[in-house]
Amino acid sequence: RAHDPATIVIFGASGDLTHRKLIPALFVAYMQDLLPEPFRIVGFARRDYDDEIFRDMMEDSIRNFTRLPAAEETIRRFVEHLYYHKGDLSSPDSYAALKDRLAGAAYPENHLFYLSIIPDLFHTTVHNLQKAGMIRDPEEEHWTRVVIEKPFGKDLESAIALNKELLEHLDETQIYRIDHYLGKETVQNILSFRFANAIFEPVFNRSYVDHIQITASETVGMEKGRGGYYDEYGALRDMVTNHLLQLLCLVTMEAPGDLSAESIRNEKVKLLNATKLDIREDITDAVCRGQYAEGVDSDGNKIKGYLQEDRIDPQSDTDSFAALRLSINNWRWAGVPILLRTGKRMARKTTEIAVQFKVPPLQLFQQVECEDDVCDITRIKPNTLIFRIQPDEGIFLKVGTKRPGMRFVVEDVDMDFSYSGKWNQSLPEAYERLLLDTLHGDSTLFTRSDEVAAEWRVVQPILDNLELLKPFAYPPGEWGVKESDELFLGVEGFWRNGR
Ligand code: BG6
Repeated sequence: RAHDPATIVIFGASGDLTHRKLIPALFVAYMQDLLPEPFRIVGFARRDYDDEIFRDMMEDSIRNFTRLPAAEETIRRFVEHLYYHKGDLSSPDSYAALKDRLAGAAYPENHLFYLSIIPDLFHTTVHNLQKAGMIRDPEEEHWTRVVIEKPFGKDLESAIALNKELLEHLDETQIYRIDHYLGKETVQNILSFRFANAIFEPVFNRSYVDHIQITASETVGMEKGRGGYYDEYGALRDMVTNHLLQLLCLVTMEAPGDLSAESIRNEKVKLLNATKLDIREDITDAVCRGQYAEGVDSDGNKIKGYLQEDRIDPQSDTDSFAALRLSINNWRWAGVPILLRTGKRMARKTTEIAVQFKVPPLQLFQQVECEDDVCDITRIKPNTLIFRIQPDEGIFLKVGTKRPGMRFVVEDVDMDFSYSGKWNQSLPEAYERLLLDTLHGDSTLFTRSDEVAAEWRVVQPILDNLELLKPFAYPPGEWGVKESDELFLGVEGFWRNGR
């Protein structure tokens, strides 16, 4: 249970994130007795709701989006902690009124301000909170913490400017920048797996690893209401500059000296600072962007192309797919290609990290690939360690094994650990973990200002050269842009594409 009684104010309470993620996550924490006692949740938005309407709506959200079965009685008790405050983010009067309301005895004095709002208003909101006297000094007895959703800027320059603006009003220790991938159970497990076992770490380096590939593919296109945001950001800014680079950090960073937030984040920043686009002749060697074209799904229904989607500029150059080849210029990883890719409207929803090892120095056995007892001789298969982040969460290791029978041939098999096989329970949602961490004051799973800048530094050369990197069209329902295969030039392998 979080110790300090707290009032959580959600700015942007009428939005999708509040409905689908924040309130259901807080509810699950409540069900499990993990929220502090007492607590209050205040939804702040412009709509003309009142406490009753807000509570009714949140009851529906809980029923629709909570991962665990929820008893009606528990839902009713939970929503009694919910309140609504009508206000306008750009009007100082709204903050003065909020302040008066929170001064009432019913509201615990520790304040968590969750900014589930458009990025353009981050600074205005924090500035107005400060003007209203609602941001306490970190040394005071009661705390103020501010949670910010990505995107943190649009490029390196705007990210640095945003950090500077926020730090005019807040101390770094009061800011929690959410990258929800870090809250995923399987993502937290990457460090445990690497550093709680002695057998993998000695081979995680350039002597043994051939390359690393990270894929986060989605089947969805533009979800309702997202076109405007997405067309301004695209896959590179929406997924690569945060989620994918964070996965890369966790799988390649050095072991921290301890598990404190600062030690872990220091190692991530070092890794990001060593990471560069792997450009041989020009930037097109290292980057491939795409936009999905129109098509039909397996039921014959028409799928809109990216450029036909709602609130997308028909002339847009924004990427709905991006693939990159990076190198990490440090002692451990120099020369090991790192391939990242993400996209909408791809064949399957999957996020995985595959660490492919080098092949043995001598091929003693014939390698076969068999289907229904019919075997073909193939090239030798390398060992590959795969972190399956989602779905079918687990880790598996591909190894060569003698195929039973009279011939001495080797076939690829999986050593397979799956979360569902071992624990048979649904995994906590990222937001459950992250919201509780903010209440505990633990910033380990949140990104620090220098870390955000270091992420942008990796992709900035792409943003500076978009003219040279026009998006290719790709068919929906497949594995993205065909030309992205060329990023594997000189690498022993290819995109795994769900194999
Ligand atoms: C969000 C992006 O951060 O992550 C979305 O803005 C994307 O575009 C989503 O769909 C993917 O998250 P997850 O947890 O479903 O992999």
